Amino acid sequence: MNLKGKTALVTGAAHRVGKAIALALAREGVSIIVHYGRSADAAQQTIGEITALGVEALPVQADLRDPAQIAALFQAVEDRFGHLDILVNSAASFVKQPFEDVTVDSWKDVMQANLRAPFLCSQHAARLMRAVQRPADEPALIVNIADLSGLQVRSGYVQHGISKAGLLHLTNISAHELAPDIRVNAIIPGPILPPPGVSPDSERWQQIGARVPLRRPGHPGHIGQTVVFLATNDYITGAAIPVDGGEHLIDPTR
Ligand SMILES: NC(=O)c1ccc[n+]([C@@H]2O[C@H](COP(=O)([O-])OP(=O)(O)OC[C@H]3O[C@@H](n4cnc5c(N)ncnc54)[C@H](OP(=O)(O)O)[C@@H]3O)[C@@H](O)[C@H]2O)c1
Repeated sequence: MNLKGKTALVTGAAHRVGKAIALALAREGVSIIVHYGRSADAAQQTIGEITALGVEALPVQADLRDPAQIAALFQAVEDRFGHLDILVNSAASFVKQPFEDVTVDSWKDVMQANLRAPFLCSQHAARLMRAVQRPADEPALIVNIADLSGLQVRSGYVQHGISKAGLLHLTNISAHELAPDIRVNAIIPGPILPPPGVSPDSERWQQIGARVPLRRPGHPGHIGQTVVFLATNDYITGAAIPVDGGEHLIDPTR
């Protein structure tokens, strides 16, 4: 896809990884819908940084656990832009909870945010992506941001791991169902950014990075760069790209 003049919605784009994705696309000339949940101030800051790059930016708040708010988010996109070229499902709730403590409500919250929302967003996006005629070699694009816990067992990440496993399969199913005019791919980040409150320069985070084959943590720009790559290469669909310094190769028996 030639990115200049295109339009992308990035969920969870107020800060952290979603912001890096939004800025990477904006640098290529893409107008951005900055979805956010609770981080209104950070979203405004991100809007300022995007418009400084000379493209349009629209902030839209929505709790992605609520289908009505997702519908309103896409209505706002339609009202402003009329169509959509790229959707990045980056927002996610990150919950660690012992298996025995998982409640119906915490299960529901995580599944609604991490799996049902990307599905509903993809449904709405497909309609807006098909609102314009596209050349055969310029399909629209959906990118789902997954997690290695969706492929490998991680202690305590019960709902999180199951939701991300579902997201990876949603990627395959939607890539199949939405072809040929929409491509769908996933990115599986590794140690990109520590949880809020932990500095990327902290010894703890550097030690986590040192465990992967490339012996260092990544940074959010690596994910932004991969989204841009997926957007510009129009012959990849149904792929899941690890961007993890080789974390998925670690031998748990050693
Ligand atoms: N950080 C890493 O190293 C890493 C590693 C592996 C995978 N990932 C994946 O990469 C993606 C981005 O990572 P991150 O660390 O930047 O994520 P994050 O900070 O944990 O969350 C991203 C955003 O999701 C939004 N969100 C969560 N629940 C929501 C809801 N119910 N409604 C609306 N928005 C909601 C929040 O927006 P507000 O702040 O506006 O509420 C939050 O800022 C996630 O899918 C994550 O699983 C990250």
